[in-house]
Order: sequence, then structure tokens, then C-alpha cells
Amino acid sequence: MIISYKTTEDLQGKKMGSVYIDGFCKNGCFHGKIANFNTDIHITRSNQLRKLTRREFLTRTGAFAGAAYPAMMAMGFLPAAPAHPFQPEGDGQGKRVIILGAGLAGMAAAYELNKLGYQCMILEARDRVGGRCFSVRKGSTNIETGQSLQTANFDEGQYFNAGPSRIPHHHALTLHYCKELGVPIQVYNNVNEAAYYFSEGKGPLSNKKIRMREVHNDVRGWLCELLAKGMDGGKIDSQMSREDTQKVIEYLRAEGGLDIDKLYKASARRGYMEAPGAGEKAGRIADPHVLSELIASGLMEPDFYNVAEYTYELQMTLFQAVGGMDRIAAAFEKKLTGVIHFNAEVSAIHNTEQGVKVEYKDKGTQRSQEADLCICTIPLPVLSNIEHNFSSDASRAIDNIAYMNTGKIGLQFKRRFWEEDEHIYGGITHTNNQLTQIFYPSYDYLSGKGILIGYYNFNEKARATGELSYAEREQLALEKGSLIHPQYRQAFETSFSVSWHKTKYSLGGWALYSAEERQTLYKALLQPDKQVYFAGEHLTYLNAWMAGAFESARSVVASLHARVTGGRMSYPASQ
Ligand code: ALA
Repeated sequence: MIISYKTTEDLQGKKMGSVYIDGFCKNGCFHGKIANFNTDIHITRSNQLRKLTRREFLTRTGAFAGAAYPAMMAMGFLPAAPAHPFQPEGDGQGKRVIILGAGLAGMAAAYELNKLGYQCMILEARDRVGGRCFSVRKGSTNIETGQSLQTANFDEGQYFNAGPSRIPHHHALTLHYCKELGVPIQVYNNVNEAAYYFSEGKGPLSNKKIRMREVHNDVRGWLCELLAKGMDGGKIDSQMSREDTQKVIEYLRAEGGLDIDKLYKASARRGYMEAPGAGEKAGRIADPHVLSELIASGLMEPDFYNVAEYTYELQMTLFQAVGGMDRIAAAFEKKLTGVIHFNAEVSAIHNTEQGVKVEYKDKGTQRSQEADLCICTIPLPVLSNIEHNFSSDASRAIDNIAYMNTGKIGLQFKRRFWEEDEHIYGGITHTNNQLTQIFYPSYDYLSGKGILIGYYNFNEKARATGELSYAEREQLALEKGSLIHPQYRQAFETSFSVSWHKTKYSLGGWALYSAEERQTLYKALLQPDKQVYFAGEHLTYLNAWMAGAFESARSVVASLHARVTGGRMSYPASQ
């Protein structure tokens, strides 16, 4: 949309101004003059409108109300409407809220409560903020059960996100906080058809890396051919009219890249053996992989489903914080000066008659703190080992909700061979071996060094990997990774691995629920236990996402504030 204006002088030399608007509406373009002004507007040389009050503007543009709003925004008369408004009424009047955990949920809760006039204190067991929102850089440390302290030896400026690494475009609250706190974001390339499928095992196509685009297009092509033939030959009882059947067959021809005879014979969609170029170089397309070989090699099994585009959260566009996801945690920390107490390990949480009492170890010294209310964001497997006097329903939920076994390793290489040699810029290689996935960085393209995520695995594979020493994990990542990228051996420099279910103060990746547990265990923690509220990704349907931490924080702040002020506010507001 373009807002412009023109100044003229009338016959008496009086300055006149007209504001015009050009843009697009639902039904096409619109153009129009939205207002005429006279002498009380001061038009500066820099072509900006000055000294026009909001009321004057509204009065003058009343006849064009629809167009006036964007015009006002563009001229700075209106603040932009918050993308994700949260403005509960009433004041917290200095009520004391103790928050357990300086992860994203705890910090977002403190940030919002501070705005509402509460006195917050956060107890954080670690010496850093963020919890699982952890970007590993030079000097970062992590403690796992049964292992020594691990310290990262990455070069200055190199990092990887050991926890959350991507933000779906529809996670509006996460993006809202990035905007509100001034955290720059960039596109995270989650889908890359140039990355590989590597099936380790039996079958003619196993033990070799195959570009994802080859498998995707061949499988699509073969399946469309089968379906088109079946429909054409009347072998499928679709109960469709002849006309609709023909339309579906046409669709299958387009979808699968079939030829005029409805046969799949490969196409440029699956890439080239020899790239096209200048002069006589038309490019050479390879034959497709044979369907029976794709099946025999396990390439149609769950490890290789097209998970990215078929999963709501993983559909492009995804984002990441520039410089590491921990920039989001750091931005909250900056807003919470004096609120966060580090190295404060909670040992007991007790509801008292009027409030709550929390005992904690402060660098070894036992302390206790009383408050009016508490928000507990401690991950449940950790909370399960902390003394409390919660109800039996809450207790049962805390002790029984399962968490995901998951881990990642960051491998620093002295050159970005995946870009230089293999044209892979971001995205993910999938394999059915213990690595599960290799992630290529979606930042600092074409630079010198780089960190790959050498594995990101779950469940049993993550459990087994977690049992290994740091050196053995590195060995595993290098050995299996070299099958796909032989450059590993020559270019590898240093690694850092995190097994979340073994990491002190986390003990798991994220909460996992069955449908039945959603009705029982989950619900038990959605209500406060007397003065203690529970928050975190585990109390949402956004498990494993930063959005879960933020949504939960707002939800708990809303209900705590409603209790204090006697107001009625529910979050999220019903649609
Ligand atoms: N949110 C987690 C991820 O992006 C599960 O992998």
C-alpha cells in the first residue's frame, strides 16, 4: 500500500494538502483520495505530515473510515496493534510470586507479571537461563548423570542449538516475543530436497546416499502410475463418474510426472546425472530407482516418510533466532534484572496456610523463601524428586508423565564440505541408523567452518546413545556420518553432545501423553495446587515447542492474576 500526498496553494496562497492511498484490497486494487487538509497542517520539506492531532485526523477522514486506519498507522498516529495482545486488567499490587525455573516459561511468566505489578523472584538451579533453550558455544557446559562435566571447545562464533532449533511460522506467540524483545530471526531451511536418505541394511539401494528428491519423485511417480493405470482400466471401484475419473487421472499424471501414456519414466524433478549448461550441454537425467528396490531397501519405511512437509509444525516457513536460539532466553533475562537467582536448587515446595514456602540450596547454603503464590516450571521428572505437599492427583501426575529420550551432537568441521562439495544448504539428511538425522546449519552459508548436528535421535536410539560416554558418542557420530560424508574424517575438529533425558535439571526432552493421560494426569496439573501453579511446555498441546512454554506462561499468569484481582480472564481467549 502506498500513502502519498500532494500540496497545493489556493488562490490566496493558502497551503492545501491531499492524502492519497493506493493499495490492494480483497477485490483488487484501490486508489483514492482519503482527505483534504488546509492551513492547520504543517507540511515539512521532508514530505511528512506534522502537527495533525489524532482527533483532527479522524474527524477529517471520517468519510473514509476503512482507509483511514492504515493511513494513520503509516503516518505514525497509531501504534501497530500487538500481534498477540495480552493486557489483563487490574494490578497485582506487589503480591510476591516465586517462580521455579528460568527457562522460557518461567521468564515469560515473570516478564508478564512484572508488567502487571507483581514482585517476582525466579529460582534457577543452573548458572544460566533458558533451560532446554540451550545454544552450545565456546565454553558452554552441561552435566549429565554418570558423566563428568562437559565443556565445549568450539571456535569463537560457532554454535549449535542443542534444544529448540526451529520456529514454525504459525507459532505466533514465539514470533511475537521475538519482535517485542528485539530478537532478530532468519529463515530456517527445514526442507531440502538436496539432502540425503541413507538406508543402512539390506537391499540394492541401501548403504548409499540418495538425494531426497530422487526418492520423493520416484515414489510419487510409481504410485501415481499404479493408481492411474488402475483407474483407467476400471480396476478401482471408485464410484466416480467417468468425467471425474478422467480428471483424477489427469491430476495423477501431473502429480507423478507421468508421460502421455501414464507411465513414469523419470524427469528433471529428480535431478540430473549431468547438470545442464551452456552450448550443447542439455543435461542428463538418470533412470528412476525401481519401485521394488526402493521397497526392499527400506526407503518406504517410517524412517523415510516425507515427514517435513506432511507435518504441520515442520512445513516451511520455519525460523530461528539469528546467532542461536538462546538469544531469545537472553532477551528475557535482560528484562529481568535482579529477579533471577542462579545456582538455586529447589529441595522442597510447601503450600502453607496463606502462601507458599520454597526451600533451596544457594551454592550449598540451605535457604528458604516464602511468597504469596508460586509458579513451578520445573520439568516433571526433576520435580518428582523434590519434596512437596501437593494433592495426590498432582503428585501422581508429576510422578507418571513420561518424557522423551532425545539427544543431539554438534560436530565442528574446518570446512563446510556439505555446501562446497554437495550443494547442501540447510535441511536434514535422514537415516535409519542410530543417527536418525543429520542437520545442516541454516546460517553463515559459504563461510569457513561450520557445525553440523551429527545426530538428533529419539526413543530407544537416543536412550542407547545416551548410555555412551561423550567420546563414544563422538565416535559413533563420526563413524556413521562418514558413511554419508567421507569428508568427516579429514575435516572434523571437535564435538559436544547433549542427552536430554540424562541432563541434570531437565531429565527429558519434552512431555509425552497418551490420549487417555490427557484426560487424567494432564488435567490434574492444569489447575493450581492451592497456591502453586504449574507451567511449561508439558502443560500444553504444544509439547516440545518453545510456543508451549510461552502459551503456558500466559495461561498461568492469566489465571493467577484473575485470582488476585477477582477478575475473570481466560487464556487463551475462546475463539
Ligand atoms: N520441536 C522439536 C523439534 O523441532 C521436536 O525437533
